[in-house]
Amino acid sequence: MPSLLEALSEDVGAAFAALDLPRELGGVIESDRPDLAPYQCNGALAAAKQAKRNPREIAQAVTDHLTTAHPELKIEIAGPGFLNLTPPAEAYAARANAIAADARTGGEASGEPIKLMIDFGGPNVAKPMHVGHLRSSVIGDCLQRLMRFRGHEVISDIHLGDWGLQMGHLITELQDEQPDLPYFDAAQDGPYPDQPPVSIEDLSRLYPQASAKAKEDAARNERSRKATAELQAGRPGYRALLAHFIAVSIQALRADFDALGVSFDLWKGESDVNDLIPELVEDFKVRGVAEQSEGAWIVRVARDSDKKELAPLILVSSAGAALYATTDLATILERRREQDPQLILYVVDLGQSDHFEQVFRAAYKAGLAQEGGLEHVKFGTVNGADGKRLRTRAGGTFKLADLIGQARERARARLNEAGLGAQLSEAEFEAVARSVANAAIKFSDLSNVRTTNYIFDLDRFVSFEGKTGPYLLYQAVRIKSVLRKAADQGLTAGDVTVGHDAEAALVRRLDSFSGALARAERDRAPNVLCEHAYGLAQAFSGFYAACPILPEKDEAIRASRLKLAETALRQMELVLGLIGLDVPERM
Ligand code: ARG
Repeated sequence: MPSLLEALSEDVGAAFAALDLPRELGGVIESDRPDLAPYQCNGALAAAKQAKRNPREIAQAVTDHLTTAHPELKIEIAGPGFLNLTPPAEAYAARANAIAADARTGGEASGEPIKLMIDFGGPNVAKPMHVGHLRSSVIGDCLQRLMRFRGHEVISDIHLGDWGLQMGHLITELQDEQPDLPYFDAAQDGPYPDQPPVSIEDLSRLYPQASAKAKEDAARNERSRKATAELQAGRPGYRALLAHFIAVSIQALRADFDALGVSFDLWKGESDVNDLIPELVEDFKVRGVAEQSEGAWIVRVARDSDKKELAPLILVSSAGAALYATTDLATILERRREQDPQLILYVVDLGQSDHFEQVFRAAYKAGLAQEGGLEHVKFGTVNGADGKRLRTRAGGTFKLADLIGQARERARARLNEAGLGAQLSEAEFEAVARSVANAAIKFSDLSNVRTTNYIFDLDRFVSFEGKTGPYLLYQAVRIKSVLRKAADQGLTAGDVTVGHDAEAALVRRLDSFSGALARAERDRAPNVLCEHAYGLAQAFSGFYAACPILPEKDEAIRASRLKLAETALRQMELVLGLIGLDVPERM
């Protein structure tokens, strides 16, 4: 069933067409003067301009035509020729009943389902995740949920950073600490122990230790470089160590991602495509995609139309090493062979824009992907109150695990203030605190326009008031509680009738879900979903304040309002689910 907005656009478009005016000018939008009418059409002005006629005259002609065809519709001409439109109560009721009966509560699937991959998260082995990885994780997870709900086939890949110089640092630093481990004996090639020689704590200590030394000491850095090159060339002891490092890191990462409720289909990394690199490089050389320059192999990707200079992509360094861009290209090749997606979305910070531009252009040039089949979904930084990138008090990088811990702490305090501690078992209380903390973190991130930076303010994010994740959970919980009481009293929901403005306003919000989904998909814009959830919560609030449910004496009206409340809750839980939030039973 079309939305109210689509049906209105259809009717007004037909009136334009009947008057020999362009049908598409009959498009209807939500009014920017809701005090006058809920919907408007501005097409008469554009039509008048095109036909060099008086806009009010055209508006009048359209109105006359519409009034004959749809006497139930209320139409007013305002200002220079705007059409203000108010659908009848029956149209609202019919739409509400259709949404209530729809398993997707009015949220339509895409008409053109595709197969896509989403590359997000992107944490680095042995380095703790920081808040930049948080953004990639929550935005990527929201997009994967949205795309699945829209009916697309989605494969998500965490794409671990596990192949650069940091691996050489870890290997050499470990060798200094434990030189007798079998992995360092070049004359041996296994078998090696099953148990890892390091814990995640060891890894997070070894890496900064080595990188600090390497900064001071060129020879130390050279050792790491050499170890990296040997690792990439396949030295068995080093490969065995790498496998341990990755397994230990993944175990720790899983804990953070589980806490956040973020999941991936594939836990692949840069190192997985190592064996494809020689073939890819050879192919690029033979076909002339790559050329030699100062001992390195590069791909020229600059275009005449570029406003700013884009450096060539370095495929193989002058030292013979494959770099970050090389692994990304090899990953495109691997994905083409294994999954063959029509689209790959890379959810990575804005700072890597040039990198992705280079990789995409090189991939198109080499025919690894169709033009437009690779897309960088960029995002801004998370800043502290000083407007600079968020740091710890000591000035270090903000660890994701600490951030989650702090949010939980605030959530517990807030829930205790609300008196929930005394009502729930400890396990239930912890589960609610987890939901509230995640809602705070995710909503405050996702509600921003993706490419802007935002200031991290945990107190505001955790508040139950204002435009926050916890506020939305709270509204949903409130509806649940009304419905529980209704069930206890044996009340049942029935057909929706619309007799109050606040009911119509709620139906309009429910109606706008499909449009919001389509826009969120088109613009890869989680904030559109956040806006929809917030608008719905507010519309429900307005409805609940104006239209009593349980105390209502008229049985049919009460049943109708119950149905509206049920439907609002279902759509609310759905959209919150797409954002990655789960609604507790009470809070
Ligand atoms: N590991 C990278 C980092 O931490 C992010 C990886 C992004 N994804 C990609 N395909 N390059 O900056």
